[in-house]
Amino acid sequence: MENRSGQVTTKKDQGILHIGIQRPDKKNALTLAMYDALTTALNLAEDDNQIRVVLLHGTESCFTSGNDLHDFAKNPPQGENSPVFRFLRAISQARKPLIAMVSGAAVGIGTTMLLHCDLVYADETARFQLPFVNLGLCPEAASSYLLPKLVGFLHASEILLLGETIAADKALELGLINSIFPSTDLSQQVRNKALQLAAQPPASVRLTKSLLREQQAQQISEVMSKEGKLFLQQLAKPEAQEAIKAFSEKRKADFSQFS
Ligand code: COA
Repeated sequence: MENRSGQVTTKKDQGILHIGIQRPDKKNALTLAMYDALTTALNLAEDDNQIRVVLLHGTESCFTSGNDLHDFAKNPPQGENSPVFRFLRAISQARKPLIAMVSGAAVGIGTTMLLHCDLVYADETARFQLPFVNLGLCPEAASSYLLPKLVGFLHASEILLLGETIAADKALELGLINSIFPSTDLSQQVRNKALQLAAQPPASVRLTKSLLREQQAQQISEVMSKEGKLFLQQLAKPEAQEAIKAFSEKRKADFSQFS
């Protein structure tokens, strides 16, 4: 079964729901409609007994460049019920296992969504970046809580404060991803992992996922909500306005006038 609705595709294949982010001309930047489609696809997986594993992927040379920055200017999220926050709640509360397959850039929410996945595989072209500070914003998706737990406090500080790009081998060393496969083989290798997981006893898989995650579920929800409010406040401030304008004008942002 294959379903192409705009720039998010879904395909059911032997117990796996493949969810594709496909807007290659804009590096798979996520619009409001795409967040809604991703949430719908995740909910579909939760409700469909035939689906045992969800596999999230982008296109061959890009996972996603994160939130559409023009949308940030034109259609900023309005509150907790905005498409981006609904998507984050859906991915953070998913009961079925989520696998992510990353090629090329995974920026902003492209990286923070991986913190809610159970297995993350990448090829050697994968590059991760959390440029929230570079954009005058702040962490989202509970990344200010999850990232230090995953990579340690100092690495998390560096990743979030400097917002530099992290190459695949560094991401592996930090524990952001499970493995790197050659790009020519990535799809097959990840499909094999997904099939392997789909063949495991499903109730036991769900129980194990829940045990791994439940101790931090409350904290994740609270941090995500707090970050979300602060993120929206930041988005309206001059630092973020300058960063987003600079992106549109294809120039480096200048924060020298801010105190
Ligand atoms: N929002 C909106 N448009 C985006 C975008 C985004 N997040 N990321 C890329 N695009 C657009 C570019 O504006 C460009 O559009 P154009 O062809 O109309 O000029 C097109 O996608 C290609 O992007 P480009 O920057 O030329 O590709 P690249 O391979 O040189 O770099 C990235 C890829 C992802 C590293 C770079 O595009 C980037 O840093 N994007 C912004 C990421 C970001 O800050 N996301 C928000 C995080 S909160």
